[in-house]
Amino acid sequence: MEFKKLLEPGRIGQMELRNRMVMPGMGTNLAAADGTVSDVIVNYYARRANGGVGLIITEVCCPDPLGRVIPGEIEATTNKFMPGLSRIPHAVHSGGAKVCLQLAHGGCFASEGVTGERPLTPSGVGTMQLPGENPRVMTIEQIKHLIDQYGQAAKRAKDCGFDAVELHGAHGYMPLQFLSAYTNKRQDEYGGSLENRARFALETIRCIKEYTGEDFPLIYRLSAYEDVPDGVTPEEACAFAKMAQEAGADAIHVSAGTWDSRLEKYNKVMAGEESAEGKDLSQGVATSMWVPPNYTPRGSLAYLAAAVKKAVDIPVIAVCSIPPEMGEEILERNQADFISMGRQTIADPDYPNKIKAGRADTIRRCLRCNECLGEVMRNCGISCAVNPEAGKEYEGFTKVEPAETPKKVAVIGAGPAGMEAAQIAVKRGHNVTLFEKNSELGGALYYVSLPDFKLDYKDYTEYMIRETKAVVKDIRTDTEVTADLINGEAFDIAIVATGAETFIPGIPGAEKGGILDPLKVLDGREKTGNRVIVCGAGLVGCEVAMVLAEQGKDVTMVDMLPTAAPELAIYTKWVLDAKLAELGVKVKVNHKITEMTDQHIICDCQGETYTYEGDSVICALGLKPNRTLVDELREKCGKTEIIPVGDVNKPRKIMQATHEGFHAARRI
Ligand SMILES: Cc1cc2nc3c(=O)[nH]c(=O)nc-3n(C[C@H](O)[C@H](O)[C@H](O)COP(=O)(O)OP(=O)(O)OC[C@H]3O[C@@H](n4cnc5c(N)ncnc54)[C@H](O)[C@@H]3O)c2cc1C
Ligand SMILES: Cc1cc2nc3c(=O)[nH]c(=O)nc-3n(C[C@H](O)[C@H](O)[C@H](O)COP(=O)(O)O)c2cc1C
Ligand code: SF4
Repeated sequence: MEFKKLLEPGRIGQMELRNRMVMPGMGTNLAAADGTVSDVIVNYYARRANGGVGLIITEVCCPDPLGRVIPGEIEATTNKFMPGLSRIPHAVHSGGAKVCLQLAHGGCFASEGVTGERPLTPSGVGTMQLPGENPRVMTIEQIKHLIDQYGQAAKRAKDCGFDAVELHGAHGYMPLQFLSAYTNKRQDEYGGSLENRARFALETIRCIKEYTGEDFPLIYRLSAYEDVPDGVTPEEACAFAKMAQEAGADAIHVSAGTWDSRLEKYNKVMAGEESAEGKDLSQGVATSMWVPPNYTPRGSLAYLAAAVKKAVDIPVIAVCSIPPEMGEEILERNQADFISMGRQTIADPDYPNKIKAGRADTIRRCLRCNECLGEVMRNCGISCAVNPEAGKEYEGFTKVEPAETPKKVAVIGAGPAGMEAAQIAVKRGHNVTLFEKNSELGGALYYVSLPDFKLDYKDYTEYMIRETKAVVKDIRTDTEVTADLINGEAFDIAIVATGAETFIPGIPGAEKGGILDPLKVLDGREKTGNRVIVCGAGLVGCEVAMVLAEQGKDVTMVDMLPTAAPELAIYTKWVLDAKLAELGVKVKVNHKITEMTDQHIICDCQGETYTYEGDSVICALGLKPNRTLVDELREKCGKTEIIPVGDVNKPRKIMQATHEGFHAARRI
């Protein structure tokens, strides 16, 4: 596909951009403890600018200490932060991109635990996600003070060399808390009518312009649909966008959602108090509405950008699960002027340069797994499942440098761990042979990619296989490695990436046979009847249950744990839970299986015994590592260094497999 539109230069106010690709704000949680910009943040943005993106909008940066949402958030609250902030434009400009500082005040979700003070809000309405908080109602004086703080912070951004600022008025941040009648119950000039609710945002826009001058570009980030009672509707958002334009905004960046979007319904559905009818929950709940995982359709918010574009004359930026191909089409249809691709820029910072070079097939595709966000939300620095370097751009820590002494390396197993290790080892100049016992590369990624709702994983798998074949010259498929083979070819190093396999534990009754393997059900080698019992509600169990439910089957899934798929990043899990509910999968948690045959299971739940009968029983009670070869090599191949990576160490996820493969190859 040709990417003419994405590669066209563009303009936001006075800011000229080399192309239409934007990196939207994404919190990294990598600031120093006091909110100062750290080395890793500077390197992280420099890396992305070098990849060819047109505009980088930074992560949230609070204009006032009470607006801080995450502990590792950068600040622009006083001049003391300017030396650190000014490092970002230097770094980004050196890579040829423009950079915009995102000014964000969390309001009701700037929690006391992070700021040390009770949250400030328009009218004391908090968020269901932080039930323990005790929000304060802002006085007029506090409102005026905060507006001025935004202005001062914007001036600091300009003085530090930023090309623009973005006022974060989406995702439940303060301007949205004022704009939305869900959170704004004020009776004064800042509440009530749309004009009054918009007042805070509009005064802030004007104040920023006063501090920075009219020519300094301001992007307004807007949630154009909240899906909460009395929340912002697309019609209201369009009307507001016009007001923002009149107040001086130079572009509108159209997202959606707030912290409580669809959350009440989700909680009721999970508690069994309401039916999950309709498909709205699985389109995203709360944060997963604006950072939607793989279970949701791509480009789900593009219609909102198109609506806002019709309402205003300034440029509109579309965002949300938009791969480059779809971005090109959105621009082609004139539904937006710029395309933000967030997680894709984390997963592969070089994607814009690859597009420019006509090599879109070499883009490392984002999985939309949300491990990146999951890490930030659990107070750690950002990481990426498929890009081991992301968020780790410290000097030397993830550098892939030529090996001092090229070695003869066997990589055994071509799942994500083995493919990553083999590619990196070749790039370092080692002499690499990649062995795989199957006829095709991919390992468990073959099964991972089968369901329709894993399209992002399929794209990633295809990329990994293509890239491995392009980089690694000696690939031997249909070859099951043994100690004799390794000794016979005198390898210096064997990176063992043999993964894990399904198994049936010794539960009474299982020995009678006939219990189905989830992987064989997924790829059609084993067929089920109409009423299916899935034992195990980990990721594999959940996904096989969803595939069968989509075929119209009656599925019951049991697990001894208190929740399904606990290994998923939280905002991905919410959508998976919603999808299970919408598909009618009966999820029985806290159920310990005591007996299991091919037609029924018996469980103990808090001292009560339950029997479930079906036409088929699938055992998805976990995987066990394929360790035999590791032990054999250690015993028989004394001259070869053995390094196990990925699921062979312990069954986990793609993130751990990729990172372990990467670092093993970097170390040798
Ligand atoms: C159905 C399913 C869904 C999943 N969904 C997700 C998900 O959504 N997100 C996520 O992060 N993770 C998911 N996972 C887990 C993820 O796939 C694994 O963590 C990951 O694939 C592990 O990678 P690996 O390279 O260590 O092993 P594997 O991918 O298992 O690859 C091991 C390879 O080694 C080969 N091999 C074994 N022995 C030999 C030998 N002696 N000689 C040569 N070759 C050998 C095997 O044939 C295989 O190709 C899922 C797993 C399954 C099964
Ligand atoms: C790790 C992470 C952190 C995010 N932090 C912010 C943020 O600081 N400010 C913001 O406006 N949006 C934030 N977002 C939302 C993104 O800007 C973007 O809207 C979202 O990821 C959807 O776009 P994508 O599908 O291209 O990733 C974050 C998203 C992720 C994945
Ligand atoms: S962690 Fe997952 S969702 Fe986030 S950027 Fe990486 S691949 Fe994409």
